[in-house]
Amino acid sequence: MKICIIGYGTVGRGVVELIHKKKLDVTVVGVCGRNCGVYDEEGIDLGSLIDGTKDVGLDKYPGVRRDIDANKMIDMKCADVYVELTPTNVVDGEPGYSFIRRILANGCHAVTSNKGPVVLYYNELRKLASANNVKFLYEATVGGAMPVLNLVRENLRGNRVASVRGILNGTTNYILTRMGSEGAGFSQILKEAQELGIAEKDPSYDVDGVDAAAKAVIIANEFFSRDAHMEDVDVCGITRITPEFVSLAWKNGFSVKLIVEVGRDVLRVAPRLIERNHPLCVDGVLNAVNITVDMAREVTVVGYGAGKYETAGAVISDILSI
Ligand code: HSE
Repeated sequence: MKICIIGYGTVGRGVVELIHKKKLDVTVVGVCGRNCGVYDEEGIDLGSLIDGTKDVGLDKYPGVRRDIDANKMIDMKCADVYVELTPTNVVDGEPGYSFIRRILANGCHAVTSNKGPVVLYYNELRKLASANNVKFLYEATVGGAMPVLNLVRENLRGNRVASVRGILNGTTNYILTRMGSEGAGFSQILKEAQELGIAEKDPSYDVDGVDAAAKAVIIANEFFSRDAHMEDVDVCGITRITPEFVSLAWKNGFSVKLIVEVGRDVLRVAPRLIERNHPLCVDGVLNAVNITVDMAREVTVVGYGAGKYETAGAVISDILSI
């Protein structure tokens, strides 16, 4: 299978490194950065690409071409699967939205880790994929490495989802956990979460609940066939939660968690008190999702919702499933 990777940031590099290290049976024919690209129809030498871009961008790689960019590589139809890994933008979904539209309209499969296009244009992109008889997969957009979308689509096939509840933002979980166990202050811990590399570029997306709301929208559309958008989510972030409140809850056997709740008529992100022995009560950067369905009753998944190799792993799972 030939693939082309669009976006050579943290996740893009993670995907390339894992394909190389695990010797996966996938030929990477193209890797695109901003206004440049590396292309080899026989397969790029990934070892040399990884070494040659260790501390620099793709544009500094000796084999890079300036006459080739993502749009050109999409129109060349040089790959079976295009992997769109540009940064998330929940305002207009660009540049990922235009790339994915072009890929699907050209009759190629698309995989993305980019929440923006999936949140804003879910139904349009799904219809476009189906009209062109190709796959559009985006497991990495919800819960990173934790299987959520594919779990329901594949393993819980035939079940009807009644509700979804969980922690889908690692940054806020890390902040709330540290507040509870140490009574530490908000801004100090947020700084540490940023150093761990899990916070969004603009950390207000995490602490104001925007990132969790984006994941709630994807779940609502995927599991409940809704036509939900960001403005439909009832959102309350964690900025007004004090260390005193979290400590008091902790002493009484509860943790404060930023909880996503999605159902046929529910779409909410808000801080909640969760009993410390509840399966959703996971600490640190972990995510957890509890899915209630009609046959299997309840399934809870716990895992890492962010990180270079964790997210790349979810992307690779989508590539291999195609
Ligand atoms: N900022 C997000 C988090 C990254 O903290 O979970 C994954 O979407």
